[in-house]
Amino acid sequence: MPRLLLRLFLGSLALLAPCLAVGDAAAQMPMAWKTGPEAAAIERRIDRLLRQMTVDEKVGQLHLYGRREGFDNGEIRSGRIGNVMNFVDPAEMAAVQKAARESRLKIPLLIGLDAVHGVSTYFPLPLGQAATFNPALVEEAALWTGREARALGINWTFAPMVDMSRDPRWGRLLEGAGEDVHLSGIMAAARTRGYQAGGVAATVKHFVGYGGGEAGRDYNTAWIPAEQLHDLHLPPFRSALDAGSLSVMAAFNSVNGMPATAHKGMLTDLLRRQWGFRGLVVSDFGSIPELMAHGIARDEAEAARKALAAGVDIDMMGFVYSRHLATEVRAGRVPIAQIDEAVRRVLRVKFHAGMDTINDIDPKTAESALQSPPALDAARRAARESIILLENDGILPLDPARHRRVAVIGALARPDQERVWTDPAGVPRKPLESLDAALARLLGGGATISYQPGVTTYCGTEFADRAAAIEAASAADVIIAKLGEDCEFMGEGASRTRLTLPGVQDALLEELIGTGKPVVLVLATGRPLVLSHLKGRVAALVQTFHAGSEGRTAIAEVLTGAVNPSGKTPISFPRAVGQIPVYHDHLPTGRPETKRRFRYESIFMDEANQPLYPFGYGLSYTRFSISDLRIETPRIDPNGLLKASVLVSNTGSRDGQEVVQLYVRQPVASISRPVRQLKAFDKVMLKAGASQRVSFTVPAQALGYHDTAGRLMVEAGGFEVHAGTSSMTELKGEFSVSGSTRDGVRMRP
Ligand code: GLC
Repeated sequence: MPRLLLRLFLGSLALLAPCLAVGDAAAQMPMAWKTGPEAAAIERRIDRLLRQMTVDEKVGQLHLYGRREGFDNGEIRSGRIGNVMNFVDPAEMAAVQKAARESRLKIPLLIGLDAVHGVSTYFPLPLGQAATFNPALVEEAALWTGREARALGINWTFAPMVDMSRDPRWGRLLEGAGEDVHLSGIMAAARTRGYQAGGVAATVKHFVGYGGGEAGRDYNTAWIPAEQLHDLHLPPFRSALDAGSLSVMAAFNSVNGMPATAHKGMLTDLLRRQWGFRGLVVSDFGSIPELMAHGIARDEAEAARKALAAGVDIDMMGFVYSRHLATEVRAGRVPIAQIDEAVRRVLRVKFHAGMDTINDIDPKTAESALQSPPALDAARRAARESIILLENDGILPLDPARHRRVAVIGALARPDQERVWTDPAGVPRKPLESLDAALARLLGGGATISYQPGVTTYCGTEFADRAAAIEAASAADVIIAKLGEDCEFMGEGASRTRLTLPGVQDALLEELIGTGKPVVLVLATGRPLVLSHLKGRVAALVQTFHAGSEGRTAIAEVLTGAVNPSGKTPISFPRAVGQIPVYHDHLPTGRPETKRRFRYESIFMDEANQPLYPFGYGLSYTRFSISDLRIETPRIDPNGLLKASVLVSNTGSRDGQEVVQLYVRQPVASISRPVRQLKAFDKVMLKAGASQRVSFTVPAQALGYHDTAGRLMVEAGGFEVHAGTSSMTELKGEFSVSGSTRDGVRMRP
């Protein structure tokens, strides 16, 4: 069985795991690539359909139309619309499904939605899920997201987003898994498995280089050398495809001058011919007609021709396939074979995903599947593990004896005032516990909890009862300030040049600090903000990337010590915007910074090189020590395995979880190599006083780099290993690789 097929087959087996793991006997039918006779039968079925379909019906399969007032189901009945998106109302959903069943060929609809980090139950933003460093939990979050979407009749989600970015000025950092390619690949695969096990086809996006836009400005130009494209931007896509993602979304941006939506080299030569991807590619929202603004198409018809020829199968809300392709075929400017190949891939996804066997939604029961107890339980666990403790002068966990009067300040403390980005609008949700109510419950009767919004809207743009907020804060023993980025200040189209708290929140925070009472700042943001000015001025700093439905309850559990925080930074926190990009796996340069900080080194005159908080960092209420790094394989074959282990000890007084991280470096090679690269991690729970040996296995092929032709090079030579609880660890070991390979094939010395 060819390697890719084997990977897909193994990946499909993994699909069943989460369903069984969640113990849901009536698990939704997971979506996965079929193999063998079933796959062959699907191809024959597609052949038969293509022979029956008119050109208009074929073009209808390449058109994705979004819900809007006055939507005409007749277009579905006539076969002119083969795919829809943004339907969530059960009654409307039943109507579009009925219309498809009444069409001439009864081809099922793709019914898409941005079901990214939740539908009715919502989980931490993907960046927050990455902070858990817990792939199984992230997979479970995607499973419930898929299940709730499927319960509403959705069968296709536009996720996971796996764009690599090191630039917090970009608002869409929140949809990915942060700066590290190893962590991002693991999370991409986990989310893909989860969504598809939950019953919706995944769409790994945005192919490719969207996170590399200059200056972090959304939709901006990306210049990415081939080596970095293959080392950094492409691997998470490969991980999602190896996990069985049925579709790919093309990106808005241009890559090295060619818009991704018309990039034949990426969409066809690499994705399909080299990687063997057999699913469909959908454009991003209107990205096909945008080829005119990019300056590579004179008109809509040329944009349609170029996108189709490059390998984009479905036009999401661009209307240029539906308007022009049939005419272009009849005029002989588009070969019908190109149309047929695109339609084949769309039908292949629909039939492999079993969409023609999905029962129609029952509006009366659909909503009963939302916010189920197991889903909320998973959301609570994910929220707890997504919380990162960045600073603590000892004030946390709160002590009911010392902290009898607690002032909770900030509209984000109450869920009814928070709309979280990438959440489908209009989905029903039951009211959830507020932060102040959870604190009152957990601290008990001895504590008095006051609440003031401090700002009028959840965006933080205007004060609300400013005097009342300061008065409540002044009367308290401790101030819990819940502030952050919400609404239009994060997500798509939210690139920012100043990484501050939006609106009047910074001013409010300064007044709270000015009361002289200890401030515990709890942030809910879509990215790292610049927090240098707060170091030493707040008693504690707790970072969340919007922790979801159960987020406020989980934050209260951490603040009161009911839960020991275990989150780790999935991205470096810059000291200043001028420091960006700052990330852990950087090259050493010829003049690396030394302790002396000699002028003529690669340093800033006005700022340190190191980030304020490095990648992989997070505090606990207990203490962990990492020691006794053992390299079981001091010399390995380039196709062999590195085996190493460390002793982890909980030397504090509380049980807790720790993320043990393994970094590798090749100090001397044919090209300059990063000073650290994360190659493995494991999250362990240890009781107070307990120790455990944690073992790691790293394939030697994971130690390589890609050359300008995109070939994977593993070079013989010495390597360093660093193990610890953040990317700054100094615990070091060494090993060597005995030979070199190119794309896995041994090279003569
Ligand atoms: C947006 C986003 C994409 C999303 C799509 C549908 O513009 O770029 O990630 O899936 O449109 O909402």
